[in-house]
Amino acid sequence: MPQRLIVLISGRGSNLAALVQAAREQGWPAEVVSVISNRPQAAGLEWARAHGLPTQVVDHQAYADRSEFDDALLQACEAHQPDVVVLAGFMRVLGDTFVRCYEGRLINIHPSLLPSFTGLHTHRRALQAGVKVAGATVHYVTPTLDHGPVIAQGVVPVQQDDTEEALAERVLQAEHQLLPLAVGWHVRGELQLEAGVVRHRHGAPQALFFH
Ligand code: GRF
Repeated sequence: MPQRLIVLISGRGSNLAALVQAAREQGWPAEVVSVISNRPQAAGLEWARAHGLPTQVVDHQAYADRSEFDDALLQACEAHQPDVVVLAGFMRVLGDTFVRCYEGRLINIHPSLLPSFTGLHTHRRALQAGVKVAGATVHYVTPTLDHGPVIAQGVVPVQQDDTEEALAERVLQAEHQLLPLAVGWHVRGELQLEAGVVRHRHGAPQALFFH
């Protein structure tokens, strides 16, 4: 039986596209059962529809507070009985109930080398801090924001004349390789989590370097 995958998005959906393309090309034992966006206008929804994927909107603005939105999102997800839930540019913080429901099978991509620069505006903050490498992290989600066990990291250089946009674009290219790699490992059962540390069972390198 293929694993049932839900992808949560908020915007453009380029990570969603990278994931779906890899899944199709590599014949993953997985199918995307729903693409859910918290924003009705997310461009990623259009992409998903155009590529034959079922979509749904759970608009956070339609709910009185965070916990009501969380409940609605959880219900929408549970209706599909997913094996894996991927946050691919999903820009809402999820509550404990949601996170615990999918613990160990809830995967996020964050555009920084965690644990540095959790939260928003990662590229701006990286430039302000003067770091010389930046990157992206794919990790299992735990209740503490952007702190779960790291599955893979992609490293890019920070260049002297970088703008926030230029750095974001370089990191995004890394994200498009990193997310499919990490989710592919997960759905093929190639990862093991022990004492908060994720290891690839066959020793595949969990760090990617981009120039
Ligand atoms: C990505 O950089 C992701 O890491 C961040 O938001 C961006 C989403 O891009 N959280 P897309 O919607 O996948 O194109």
